[in-house]
Amino acid sequence: LHTIARPKDLAGVRVAVTAGPTQESLDPVRYLTNHSTGKMGYALARAAAMRGAEVTLIHGETALQPVKFTTDVPVTTAQQMYEAVTSHFAQTDVLIMAAAVADYRPAVVANDKIKKKDGDMSIPLERTPDILGTIGPQKTHQFLCGFSMETRDLVENSSAKLTKKNLDMVVANNLKVAGAGFGVDTNVVTLITPDGARELPLMSKADVADAILDEILKRRTT
Ligand code: CTP
Ligand code: CA
Repeated sequence: LHTIARPKDLAGVRVAVTAGPTQESLDPVRYLTNHSTGKMGYALARAAAMRGAEVTLIHGETALQPVKFTTDVPVTTAQQMYEAVTSHFAQTDVLIMAAAVADYRPAVVANDKIKKKDGDMSIPLERTPDILGTIGPQKTHQFLCGFSMETRDLVENSSAKLTKKNLDMVVANNLKVAGAGFGVDTNVVTLITPDGARELPLMSKADVADAILDEILKRRTT
């Protein structure tokens, strides 16, 4: 029902959303990734578009249908996501980083398939760029919303990200709470701002998306 009766309260606001996992190749056959399905980010892009925003959805590989009335920017790696976000940043008013960006990638990508040998192997990894960590200190007019997935010390760890990355809000979720996290259609999140932490009840990801956008709208205009 709420899909047909949204007020266009984000009309003219340029919103960039990142969603889904990144994939970091090891060789032509294998890659490192995570369990992100993109559902929370896609729900945010859909909700923002329905509320009249100009939405760019920058996303890793997902099984989801593109979101209607958004500009679709598919990427694969953390490096590509970094380039897509930074190239859109000057024309972005609100950046919501819901993507699960890999923190590390194989230091070397083999040209040929790595063949099995006797015994164990290890893979040297290097850091990927921290997209929000780089962009946060450079923001001008943009509202920056990060996500934070934790399994312990949710508020403490997420508040540290707010400060360290110069963000305006962090949407924190505890992977160990029932109904939250990867793949499911519901979520339990805590909105963390410089004013403190507010835990929202268990809701559909569509409703969580609207609650996040409500909070952003309120904070941008007051
Ligand atoms: N993020 C990013 N670039 C990265 C890694 C993360 O922009 N290379 C963003 C995520 O999209 C998220 C926020 O930073 O919005 C926090 O991500 P998270 O993984 O929770 O925090 P990290 O800073 O990577 O710290 P850690 O994984 O050690 O908890
Ligand atoms: Ca991380």
